Amino acid sequence: MTGKNEGPLVLGIETSCDETGVGIVRGHQLLANQVASSVDEHVRFGGVVPEIASRAHLAALQPTLERALAEADVALDDLDAIAVTAGPGLAGALVVGLSAAKTLAWSLNKPLYGVNHLIGHIGVDQLDHGPLPTPAIALLVSGGHTNLLLVNRLADDVRSIGTTIDDAAGEAYDKVARVLGLPYPGGPAIDAAAQTGDRQAIRFPRGLTARHDRAKHQFDFSFSGLKTAVARWVETEQLADQPIPVNDVAASFQEAVADVLTAKTVAACQHFGVDQLVLGGGVAANSRLRTLLAERAAAAGVTLRRPRPAWCTDNGAMIAAVGVELIEAGIAASSLDIGAQPNLAVEEVSL
Ligand code: KG4
Ligand code: ZN
Repeated sequence: MTGKNEGPLVLGIETSCDETGVGIVRGHQLLANQVASSVDEHVRFGGVVPEIASRAHLAALQPTLERALAEADVALDDLDAIAVTAGPGLAGALVVGLSAAKTLAWSLNKPLYGVNHLIGHIGVDQLDHGPLPTPAIALLVSGGHTNLLLVNRLADDVRSIGTTIDDAAGEAYDKVARVLGLPYPGGPAIDAAAQTGDRQAIRFPRGLTARHDRAKHQFDFSFSGLKTAVARWVETEQLADQPIPVNDVAASFQEAVADVLTAKTVAACQHFGVDQLVLGGGVAANSRLRTLLAERAAAAGVTLRRPRPAWCTDNGAMIAAVGVELIEAGIAASSLDIGAQPNLAVEEVSL
């Protein structure tokens, strides 16, 4: 079912945060991936404003859908199913995508699949590298979530083995960027600044890696102490009238994040005896994380799959990819009265 012209033809709609995404996928082949971002409207607030995001989704959805259909050169009638992000995310933003998806499913008489956004970040890799061999460990790092997952079957058997006990990795990037006077979203800005910085310049703390923390939080993460350490370091320098070496701070912060994420992820592979690893989420676009994880996975004999950076941030194709997975696994379609689930648990792949 996974050849070039095989597999179900699925439309995916994503509106959980500030990206309006519509993707079209046939099996594991990407046919269209159109994204309209409202990020520019949030920049001056230093973070996503939910009301602005919802209104932007309303304005962007129809044209984004039309562009995706044109890009894929398919008609709505050709679709086998509609997949949509049901959660987690901003309630008002999710509702826009859900309403559109339900309307399409109802009027076209096609099945609807309410999908977990986080699983989309893992499933998108299949569009690049084909079916994910399981069991696999997945490291999911986004703006709102940081999870280590044991994936037995992407469609319905995903277990959380670790998470952040405070900030998400992407959140730490966004907050540290603000401290350094870099723009929102912070991840790409820090990644760029770090290219010319010295990652050994400052030794920032690695959360939950001390022996006593590891006993209770072996595969959990903490980034709030790191964020505070960066803010203190910058403040101390400013009080001493020292110029801030932004690129060195960015590189050293990035190294602390990548070091702890990769060390715990590879340790999880070894602990669970799993030799397949997949990376996903907006922070998976980070250059240092990608490189260090590849090095450490290779050293441990673990095969790493990384979706291309452009597909790591929010998009509709990743939601369509999960729709395909659900159909191929024979999972029942969702009811047309599903609601937005802002706090949907990562183990709940579909509604
Ligand atoms: O997955 P995503 O697009 O949205 C959520 O589901 O949250 O992730 C957005 C996050 C933001 O925090 C952003 O700063 C971060 O991903 N990000 C990066 C990079 N590109 C995006 N973080 C580090 N390095 C990057 N290159
Ligand atoms: Zn996301």
